[in-house]
Amino acid sequence: MSEKFRIGIVGAGRGRSYFSPFAAMAETEVTAICDLDQSALDQIGDQYQIKQRFTNYDDLLDQVDIVVLATPENLHVPQSVQALQAGKHVISEVTAAVSLDQCTELVQAVESSSAQYMMAENLCYQKSNILIRNMVQQGVFGDIYFGEGEYVHDIKSLHHDGQGNPTWRYYWQVGVNRCNYATHSLGPVLDWFGERVKSVCSLGTGIHTDPEHAMEDTVLMLCKTESDCLIKIRIDMLSTRPANSYFSLQGTKACYEGTRGFGDQPKISIEGEAWQPFSNFESEFLPDRWTNPSAEAQAAGVTGEYFELRDFIDALLNGTPPPLNVYRALDFTVPGLVSEESIANGGTPVAVPDFR
Ligand SMILES: NC(=O)c1ccc[n+]([C@@H]2O[C@H](COP(=O)([O-])OP(=O)(O)OC[C@H]3O[C@@H](n4cnc5c(N)ncnc54)[C@H](O)[C@@H]3O)[C@@H](O)[C@H]2O)c1
Repeated sequence: MSEKFRIGIVGAGRGRSYFSPFAAMAETEVTAICDLDQSALDQIGDQYQIKQRFTNYDDLLDQVDIVVLATPENLHVPQSVQALQAGKHVISEVTAAVSLDQCTELVQAVESSSAQYMMAENLCYQKSNILIRNMVQQGVFGDIYFGEGEYVHDIKSLHHDGQGNPTWRYYWQVGVNRCNYATHSLGPVLDWFGERVKSVCSLGTGIHTDPEHAMEDTVLMLCKTESDCLIKIRIDMLSTRPANSYFSLQGTKACYEGTRGFGDQPKISIEGEAWQPFSNFESEFLPDRWTNPSAEAQAAGVTGEYFELRDFIDALLNGTPPPLNVYRALDFTVPGLVSEESIANGGTPVAVPDFR
């Protein structure tokens, strides 16, 4: 391929994390950026020396081959649809959609476009989660039947801007009482199970910490998978406490427990034997590209974000389906959306529609 893919990054916050991986790859170049906020745009443009700067998304779309949507969650679907209709590939930040209607719109747009779509659920590419997935696939855990994912992150300070006005997070992360923003927690665990969720039951703690929001402080979502296994998700973006992102997995032959901070170590027990440090398994079960990274991967910092984007670019080059395509993106997103109905009805099970 002689010409590089021209990448346009939309959203100057999380959008920053995409510069380093794309700079390392021979086939990509970030050529344009877009943000409504001119000062944020100029700050990031100066930092990464990007000349094409747009405050209007339509103008950016004309100039690029791939858009990265690091914009507020409610904009992911309208901006994805617009890009796909223009024949531009899409990398969308999480979550894929904020309503079931948006899910339908997104699938229709992907199915009628020549371009590709991926949701960038970077936790599926986190080193620890990749290691567990490989161990599961190689049978170390036996049959797996229970998993947990927790995203506990006090981000009250992000719900208003410096002037006290509500931000997008006020509405789309804590403004609806459901298991919002669950893809970081559910995605990796569903990857281990290799299936989808068929129903969810959801309950919350009540509202204690920040009463102006509709979302209860902690929301739990119990997910029944297609093969009747159980996944427990905890989301809390309100409680006053240190952050943690925790995972666990139980199989017939082995179990895994991640960390909850304060010096905790990730650990694995095989056949009921004493815990072993996670690092004991890295050389045997991490993919070669992690243990023996290429010069390109090293230039990008050997991160999950790099491998995720590398896989997407390879899919485009090879004409193969992208990892985390629209159906998988919705497998991760839709349980959280329908949990609203469960929580409103006292935790009754709600079926999770399959958008395939
Ligand atoms: N994968 C992860 O680990 C991770 C981490 C943080 C955020 N995120 C996701 O990234 C996205 C952005 O989050 P953030 O923390 O950067 O939010 P943010 O509010 O800090 O930044 C969003 C940016 O988008 C800009 N924007 C808003 N509307 C726009 C529009 N129509 N066109 C162009 N720009 C527009 C805003 O001006 C702002 O600069 C969200 O979807 C969030 O869920 C993912």
